[in-house]
Amino acid sequence: MRRKIVAGNWKMNGSKDLVSNLVGQVRSELASFDNGVEAVIIPPALFVGDVVEQAGEKLAVGVQNVACWGSGAYTGEISAAMARDCGCGFTLVGHSERRQLFGETDEQVATKVGQALTSGLVAVVCVGETLEERDAGKAEDVVSRQVRKALVDVGSESWRQVVIAYEPVWAIGTGKTATADDAQAMHAAIRDVLMSLGAPADEMSLLYGGSVKADNAAALFAQPDIDGGLIGGASLDANDFVSICRAVPGRS
Ligand code: PGA
Repeated sequence: MRRKIVAGNWKMNGSKDLVSNLVGQVRSELASFDNGVEAVIIPPALFVGDVVEQAGEKLAVGVQNVACWGSGAYTGEISAAMARDCGCGFTLVGHSERRQLFGETDEQVATKVGQALTSGLVAVVCVGETLEERDAGKAEDVVSRQVRKALVDVGSESWRQVVIAYEPVWAIGTGKTATADDAQAMHAAIRDVLMSLGAPADEMSLLYGGSVKADNAAALFAQPDIDGGLIGGASLDANDFVSICRAVPGRS
């Protein structure tokens, strides 16, 4: 059975006040239903300790990025092992903002995936095409290349720690969401790529991200190959985030 995951990527937003106001509320509301969702909060790394302290058992915590190295003279970097040591279970890898604004390459993404897996984190590997790539009919090629390159070094024992988040770049923070049908088609294509890599594709969780809100989550999560979401803006509001967690179809 695939894990159903809803992860809130706070990006460079939030404060200690937001942590105290939001985490407690999310935690208590999550306790009021059981649809099998695993909710994850991914705050800026400075707040990880505070979130972990308030998260309780039902709420997991992650970081938005990890270093390519395990430790050493890399000023400003944070290793996957440190994130794990501080109570994180997840890390994003290769978010489109890291790729576009910080020049992160497919090779670096693969290295970071390796660091995450060896440290015992779940790597949420983000992939997605730009609008130009979609308009040129290249969306599937681009996403398939990103998936293959990110996972090139994953050993057979680690597949279960890999989650893919499909986030079309044109849908991030824009209010434009892929239609449920388009998102489903890309998720099915990603599952085929995973299968071709020898991964247990049917058991792996694939998340959709890009302007997921309380009012469109249910239609997306109802798709057979969409196992949850990666949520940006809407994860900064406790009510919206919990509504999205509730939109995961219940266990059958
Ligand atoms: P958004 O961001 O929900 O604000 O579009 C999603 C993401 O970048 O992970």
